[in-house]
Amino acid sequence: MTADLQARLDELRELGLYRRTRVVSGPQGPRVVLDGRSVLLLCSNNYLGLADHPRVREAAADAAMRWGAGAGASRLVSGTMTIHRRLEERLADFKGTEAAVLFGSGYLANLGVIGALAGERDGLVLSDELNHASIVDGCRLARAQTAVYRHNDVEHLGALLRAEAGRPAVIVTDSVFSMDGDVAPLAELVDAARAHGAALVVDEAHGSGCCGPGGRGAVAEAGLEGQVDVVVGTLGKALGSYGAYAACSATTARWLVNRARSLIFSTAPPPPAVAAALAALDVLEAEPERVRRLRDNADALRTELAREGFDTAGSTTQIVPLVVGEASTAMAMCEAALERGVFAQAIRPPTVPAGTSRLRLAVMATHTRDELRAAAGALGHAALKAGFRPAAGPQVTQAA
Ligand SMILES: Cc1ncc(COP(=O)(O)O)c(C=O)c1O
Repeated sequence: MTADLQARLDELRELGLYRRTRVVSGPQGPRVVLDGRSVLLLCSNNYLGLADHPRVREAAADAAMRWGAGAGASRLVSGTMTIHRRLEERLADFKGTEAAVLFGSGYLANLGVIGALAGERDGLVLSDELNHASIVDGCRLARAQTAVYRHNDVEHLGALLRAEAGRPAVIVTDSVFSMDGDVAPLAELVDAARAHGAALVVDEAHGSGCCGPGGRGAVAEAGLEGQVDVVVGTLGKALGSYGAYAACSATTARWLVNRARSLIFSTAPPPPAVAAALAALDVLEAEPERVRRLRDNADALRTELAREGFDTAGSTTQIVPLVVGEASTAMAMCEAALERGVFAQAIRPPTVPAGTSRLRLAVMATHTRDELRAAAGALGHAALKAGFRPAAGPQVTQAA
């Protein structure tokens, strides 16, 4: 087996698709030490700078002393502790829903929610073609039929729903798309769900903490609080911790507790992570200007990149893609940027469609304008070194 795996790894390398983990020393700040060198971190989801915030770190440490390092069991056995309940109540309040249910991670939340809502009674899932892999896997595991609609194309979604009229249907979408930084047409999706009697699940992994009033997310920004059946959010991105939640009605929450397999058959989130998320919510409430700073920084980076000739596609959020096309070009550009002190990870298939490999830049509220200006310059040089001419736009040579 090992020889076969080695041959397949060699093949990945030849295709420019080989992956390896890079090791960061110290906490996730706006700058990190990578392979012994200080670099600007431009690919972390620690958007608000809360993962390394002193209050959040202290809360995690205190929780370890008070409740221990781990929850010890699944939520349904003995793993639900007072601190889990407290965070669920706080998240329901934050999201304007009756209830919230904690999961181990966003990946697990999507598996659990989609399976619980669509996996029974001849269900149908309608999924945006650019949804995150955890939604794709949720659809695969749900044992429901999945129909994929064109990215943000509500007309296409409507046609698919009409073709399957009468079947219990669940529409699922990212709110802020994880690799593109554009936002789903949430109001139209709510209308489509209502018109067809379908449920709507919105994954706010990159929306919560980053947009909307007080960072309450893209659903809140669109004035749709209470109109989405399930909002999934993660604790591991803007909230700087680890874990996730589904915010929903009290009845849906009870259904998830009874039917979401990734909740039932997996250990509850560890108390330090839960306490860190609670502290992060406190900081967010006390300092809502972090959300504005994040948005302003994203605007500033887009402006600087435009000066370098880059097209940042439809990004309107803190996620700013530089689509270069070939996987090997994206890797070369990533390495060239690192040489100039900027860490911006290359994202390649299967994470993104073939021919759309990119550097996915992620802005933080804690970056300075000078850092972002310098980063755009470094990326301009890196593009040239990698053989990509930004002013010419994405050089897509493979069919998507
Ligand atoms: C849109 C989206 N949903 C879910 C997840 C998974 O969340 P987690 O990292 O908490 O497992 C991610 C992670 O990148 C994501 O981008």
